Order: sequence, then C-alpha cells, then structure tokens
Amino acid sequence: MENHKLIPFLFLLFIITSTEIKGQQQKEEPFVGVNIGTDVSNLLSPADLVAFLQVQKITHVRLYDADAQILKALAKTKIRVIVSVPNNQILAIGSSNATAATWIGRNVAAYYPDTLITGIAVGDEVLTTVPSSAPLLMPAIESLYSALVAANLHTQIKISTPSSASIILDPFPPSQAFFNQSLSPIITRLLQFLSRTQSPLMMNLYPYYVFMQNKGVVPLDNSLFKPLTPSKEMVDPNTLLHYDNVLDAMIDSVYFSMKNLNVTDVVVLVSETGWPSRGDSKEPYATIDNADTYNSNLIKHVFDRSGTPLHPEIISSMYIYELFNEDLRSPPVSEANWGLFYGNSTPVYLLHVSGSGTFLANDTTNQTYCIAMEGIDAKTLQTALDWACGPGRANCSEIQPGESCYQPNNVKNHASYALDSYYQKEGRAPGSCDFKGAAMITTSDPSHGNCIFPGSKVVSNRTSQVVNSTQASGGSRVRTMGLHFTTTSAFGRVFYAFWGVISLLSCYLFL
Ligand SMILES: *[C@@H]1O[C@H](CO)[C@@H](O)[C@H](O)[C@H]1NC(C)=O
Ligand SMILES: *[C@@H]1O[C@H](CO)[C@@H](O)[C@H](O)[C@H]1NC(C)=O
Ligand SMILES: *[C@@H]1O[C@H](CO)[C@@H](O)[C@H](O)[C@H]1NC(C)=O
Ligand SMILES: *[C@@H]1O[C@H](CO)[C@@H](O)[C@H](O)[C@H]1NC(C)=O
Ligand SMILES: *[C@@H]1O[C@H](CO)[C@@H](O)[C@H](O)[C@H]1NC(C)=O
Ligand SMILES: *[C@@H]1O[C@H](CO)[C@@H](O)[C@H](O)[C@H]1NC(C)=O
Ligand SMILES: *[C@@H]1O[C@H](CO)[C@@H](O)[C@H](O)[C@H]1NC(C)=O
Ligand SMILES: *[C@@H]1O[C@H](CO)[C@@H](O)[C@H](O)[C@H]1NC(C)=O
Repeated sequence: MENHKLIPFLFLLFIITSTEIKGQQQKEEPFVGVNIGTDVSNLLSPADLVAFLQVQKITHVRLYDADAQILKALAKTKIRVIVSVPNNQILAIGSSNATAATWIGRNVAAYYPDTLITGIAVGDEVLTTVPSSAPLLMPAIESLYSALVAANLHTQIKISTPSSASIILDPFPPSQAFFNQSLSPIITRLLQFLSRTQSPLMMNLYPYYVFMQNKGVVPLDNSLFKPLTPSKEMVDPNTLLHYDNVLDAMIDSVYFSMKNLNVTDVVVLVSETGWPSRGDSKEPYATIDNADTYNSNLIKHVFDRSGTPLHPEIISSMYIYELFNEDLRSPPVSEANWGLFYGNSTPVYLLHVSGSGTFLANDTTNQTYCIAMEGIDAKTLQTALDWACGPGRANCSEIQPGESCYQPNNVKNHASYALDSYYQKEGRAPGSCDFKGAAMITTSDPSHGNCIFPGSKVVSNRTSQVVNSTQASGGSRVRTMGLHFTTTSAFGRVFYAFWGVISLLSCYLFL
C-alpha cells in the first residue's frame, strides 16, 4: 500500500515544528493510576481497600469525592491521591470564597500530609455534562486555589478539572483539532490558570467510544494499541506524523488545540481511559479480550516511555477507568463493566503486564492461548491450520471427526485449536503465534464444553464469572460519548484519509 504517500500532496503542506513544553518538565516518573468509583454493592472496607491497593502495587488513585474514611485509611501509605469536588458542589464553591476555604480545610488540609493528596479534580466533565455550572467552574477553581495558597499547600497540590474529549472538535487528524469555540472563554481562562500554576490539563480519553462511533472507519487494532504494520498506521497529512494508536492521536489533538490558543506549556494528564469487558448486544466490542488487550497495552505504553508522535519527550500519566466493576451503575451494561476487578477484588481478567514490575501483575499463571484472529478469511486460516498440523507438528488429534474439539466443525474453530497446540508446544515463544497475522494471543480460555484447549490442560481454571448488574441508578457521573463526526464535509474526507480508508481519495486523484 503506497497510496498513503499521496495524501500529503492534496493538502497545503505545513510542517509544525515541535513545540517546547518547557514550563512543566517531567519531574516525576510517568505512572499509571486507577480511578476508584464506589457504586459497588459490596465495596471493600476502607482498610481492606488500602491493603488491596498495596498488594497490587497501585501508587496513584483518583477518588470521585473526598471520602473521609478512605482518606483516613490512606494515611501513612505512599499512595498518592487525587480528590474530587463533586459536580453538585461547584455552584456553592464557585460563589463563595468562604465555602471554598471550608472545603479545602475539611477535605484536604485535615488529611495532608499524612495522606498524600497531590491533586484536586474540580468536577468531572463539567463543561459538557453540567453546562449550567460551567460559568462557576473557573471561580470555583480560583477560590480553591486561593484557599490552598492560604494553607500553603499550593506547591504540593495541583488543581485542575477533567474534561471530556468532546470539548475538542475535529480531533482527527490531530493537527486540525481545536476546542469548541463556544467554550473558548472558559477554556482560555482554564489554560492560563494551569500554565500559571504549572498544573496539568486533565482529559478523559476513550478510544473505545471513538471506535464505537466510527465503526468501519477507525480500525479496532489502532484502538487497542496492537502492533501495526506501517500500512495500517495513520498519517497526519499536515505534519506527516505517523500514529499507530488512537489514544496518542487523541492526546496530540489536545496539544494542537492548546497550541491554537497559544498555550504550549501545559501537560496533558489522562484522568480516565479504559475499555469495558462486557456489554449488551449493541456493544459487541466490550469483551474481556479487548479490555485486557487495551489496558495491558496501555500500561506497557506508559512504561515504555514512548510519548506521542508530536511530543515524544512527554509521557502522559494515565488513570485507568476503573479499579472495580461498578455493578450498581445504570445501563448500558458496559457502564457496570469497566473495572479491572470485581467489587470483592477478584480480577475480572488477568492483565498481561510483564515489564511493569509488580504493578497490577496478578498474572500468576502467565496463561495465554493462541487463536484464530477475528475477520480472517477461511482460505488464510486453512493455510495456517494445514501448516500447524503438518510441518508445524502440532497435535491435531482432538479436531478429528468424533473427537471432543471437532464441533463446531468449521475452519476457524479447528484453526484455533491447531494454532494453540503449536503455540503451547513451542513454549509460547515470541513469534510462535503469528501465522502471517492470522493468529492472536488471548488470555481467555477458548475451551468449550468437553473441548479443552492445549493451553488449558495444565492449569484449567476458568475464571469467567457473570456479574449481575442491577438497574439501580448510580452516582452522578455521566461519561459522555462525545465526538460526533461529520463525514459530509471536506473534514469528512480528511477524517477518512487519516484512518487509512483511502479508496475515496484515490478516486479523486484519478478523476
Ligand atoms: C474571592 O477572593 C478573590 C481574591 O482573593 C476575590 O477577587 C473575589 O472577588 C472573591 N470572590 C468572592 C465571591 O467573594
Ligand atoms: C460546543 O459547545 C456548545 C456549548 O456547550 C454546545 O452547545 C455545542 O453543541 C458544542 N458544539 C459541538 C459541535 O459539539
Ligand atoms: C496567538 O498568537 C498569534 C501570533 O502571535 C496571534 O495572531 C493570535 O491571535 C493568537 N491567538 C490567540 C487565541 O490568542
Ligand atoms: C491476586 O494476587 C493476590 C496477592 O498476590 C492473591 O491473593 C490473589 O489470589 C490473586 N488472584 C488471582 C486470581 O491470581
Ligand atoms: C510468569 O512470568 C514472570 C515474568 O515473565 C515470571 O517471573 C514468573 O515466574 C512466571 N510465572 C509462572 C507461574 O510461570
Ligand atoms: C495428542 O493429544 C491427545 C489428546 O489430547 C493425546 O491423547 C495424545 O497423546 C497426544 N499425542 C501426542 C503425540 O502428544
Ligand atoms: C481457580 O480459581 C479459584 C477462584 O477463582 C481460586 O480459588 C483457585 O485457587 C484457582 N486455582 C488455580 C489452580 O489457580
Ligand atoms: C440479578 O439480581 C436480581 C436482584 O438481586 C435478581 O432478581 C435476578 O434474578 C438476578 N439475575 C441473575 C441473572 O442472576
């Protein structure tokens, strides 16, 4: 595929010189933290929660409020905490300096420094979910800051506010992104505040929603940080920067949007990102495998310190959404299934994070399987199957007629068995689950009925567990899906081109 090289000629070529983020040099190692939502039916006691965080080597958490019991339990640990002002308190705090000072006194100063509060998130997605409070967002932030200064805590504790990705319009390709102009007055004031106080811009960024709203255009692999061949990378026609994953593109769209407002010294902190492990019939990509792949790769991405194409020198820290499945949250089903763990601290799936040290590394068995990739044509799968059972010397006896893995009798099922057999025989060596891209590694045991897959013979422990998500209404958090794309405009063509769907453009070229 050479076509993508043609795209730049369709556009005015202006190469953006890499901007210097000098104000906020990275003082701290980049980290991965977790969001702790508490709409969980049997939430651990605060003491058990803290013990669990320590076992999992979780060093950074964000709370959606400033729960006194949890903050107390976190005292004398090394766990760093972002506390939050709930959206329904913004009006009160924004209209009274005294209320802001009381809030800081009760929820921050009372615990610091025993509890290492390092940030205050003022509201959550206020600009997009509670526009009526938006005019008081900056007054609230500024009053809280004054109260912190008065308490002499402003150098240790940073104030910011998490925003939804939907405040950014036209985010792809990133170089064309800009903040919704109706929100510019507030955003400009926010960015000036963040720049002045050397605080990060908090963004809730969900490649999952980008993928879901643009199915068929945004590829799943790019959304999940899977290794890509260069032809599947996205090229920003204005900067010629290559993107191999959606999250980096989203982060760079934030940097470009800030640059449009002449702000170049504020760092992006990803206050929420994640992938749901279960959904209803309209959410077929909310699966354990995808959630595991996304979050495992996300952790690797941060620890690999690769930065983004625009800012390879800045590694955004990330908070995974979220620690626990919040079974009490309202539908859609995915809302109750973003967690890494069930409320009782059993893992929903085991992350594959070797290289992260012991962080979240509960993968004691290291069990992985090799199966046929979704969407691969039968002929390619048959070739892989024939090779594995032939020259590859995999044990294919169980997929013979009458044997326990013969049913369902189709090439995908048989290929999965054979590929896994080969992969296990090779000791799960790197490269032994490729088959020219027809195979993928999974952590979910593909065994079914009497058919036990080769990888499951040793450790046969199916941890699949169904959460009974009730319809009870959850807290006040609403995560907006954001990101609406018009595909009829010139922008639409650029959008398609960015994601590698270039047949459209090729037509223009030859018209
Ligand atoms: C809060 O204090 C700041 C300066 O300390 C002042 O400019 C502002 O008017 C005060 N706001 C209110 C609502 O009293
Ligand atoms: C921009 O923000 C305004 C004010 O919140 C909102 O009404 C409008 O729908 C937003 N525009 C887009 C394209 O999202
Ligand atoms: C940014 O700076 C440029 C050049 O100094 C200026 O023309 C432009 O108006 C500025 N934009 C904003 C939003 O301040
Ligand atoms: C996760 O790790 C903890 C502590 O090592 C252990 O108690 C727990 O059994 C592990 N869970 C699984 C499913 O491995
Ligand atoms: C799992 O992998 C880690 C590192 O890759 C290794 O130290 C550990 O011994 C492995 N555990 C098992 C049970 O094989
Ligand atoms: C192949 O697998 C079957 C069933 O799992 C087993 O009985 C047989 O011994 C295996 N053959 C070889 C050569 O390992
Ligand atoms: C299997 O899982 C259960 C709970 O999910 C756990 O108690 C048990 O130790 C596991 N067994 C093995 C062999 O990992
Ligand atoms: C889920 O829980 C509700 C209430 O506890 C119960 O009525 C319902 O039968 C459960 N559903 C399943 C599938 O267990």
